[in-house]
Amino acid sequence: MGRDHRICDYEGSDYRADFWEGRGRDYEDLAERIALRHLMPSPGGRLLDIGAGFGRLSEFYEGYDEVVLLDYSATGLRQARERLGQGGRIRYVAASFYEMPFAADAFDTVLMVRVMHHAEDVAALLGEVARVLRGGGQYVVEFANKRHLKSIARYLLRRQPWSPFERAPVEFVKMNFDFHPGWMEERLGGAGFHVKQCRTVSHFRLPLLKRLVPAPTLAALDGLCQPTGRLWQLTPSVFLRCTVDKAGGGPAAELFRCPGCGGGPLQEAPDDVTCAACGRRWPNEEGIACFKGQPRPAQAAP
Ligand SMILES: C[S@@+](CC[C@H](N)C(=O)[O-])C[C@H]1O[C@@H](n2cnc3c(N)ncnc32)[C@H](O)[C@@H]1O
Repeated sequence: MGRDHRICDYEGSDYRADFWEGRGRDYEDLAERIALRHLMPSPGGRLLDIGAGFGRLSEFYEGYDEVVLLDYSATGLRQARERLGQGGRIRYVAASFYEMPFAADAFDTVLMVRVMHHAEDVAALLGEVARVLRGGGQYVVEFANKRHLKSIARYLLRRQPWSPFERAPVEFVKMNFDFHPGWMEERLGGAGFHVKQCRTVSHFRLPLLKRLVPAPTLAALDGLCQPTGRLWQLTPSVFLRCTVDKAGGGPAAELFRCPGCGGGPLQEAPDDVTCAACGRRWPNEEGIACFKGQPRPAQAAP
């Protein structure tokens, strides 16, 4: 398995405080929750939240038997663990979305919000999602749209060098990508996904409007506009619900598979997680299983 993808590493940064708390984004947060209330399938089984961060979207974890928060940043997962607790049905996994340590078909539902824009290799990421999602499962995903109204206006006024109409992704800041909706749909199709529902989100992301109109009102108006997503996509954020082209069936009983040898099962102990097939061991830090970097050496047989 290749480990050569660039990663936008949030380790050590406080995304919750730096981006959300008191940062004037209540409207975006509320509008996203409205979209998710319409897109998330009936809960049940196993849910994976990819790039879960501090677990901002934990209201959507309700009703699932098991919820796995995956993030490359252990800092975010520690914050999530503080909020949501440890043990029971919630689990924390530090790993890259390019190399998820999960068995094929392990999940009934996969959620991924505000994460795609950090993927330089969308095809590889979608391939991994398709692998871990069971046939008949649902993938609810958000991506940043390059062809939104503000970007079109900026381009026409020559205040933005790149064209919102060109299909190739644009890296507008290092490791932050905006995508063309048509290009994204093609990539999803290439990985075996079918788009079932689309909601466009954040129609009113304009500083003046956000100052003048209370966030709940603006978000409610956004909610009314969101279904137009199935006709056109001109907002900075697009939410999709997709199914995967795979034979249906129940989810795999095993959650983990070894990211080193692809086998298993993995045996969880308080301090580490060990592959029964190859002996590789990864640290388990108070409930956060860490599959980043090199595994610990296999233990010598007694
Ligand atoms: C903008 S935050 C979004 C967090 C959360 N989904 C939300 O909506 O509040 C992006 C998250 O993606 C994670 N991330 C970025 N690249 C990743 C990768 N290669 N594998 C796993 N997580 C990654 C970051 O660590 C960060 O927590």
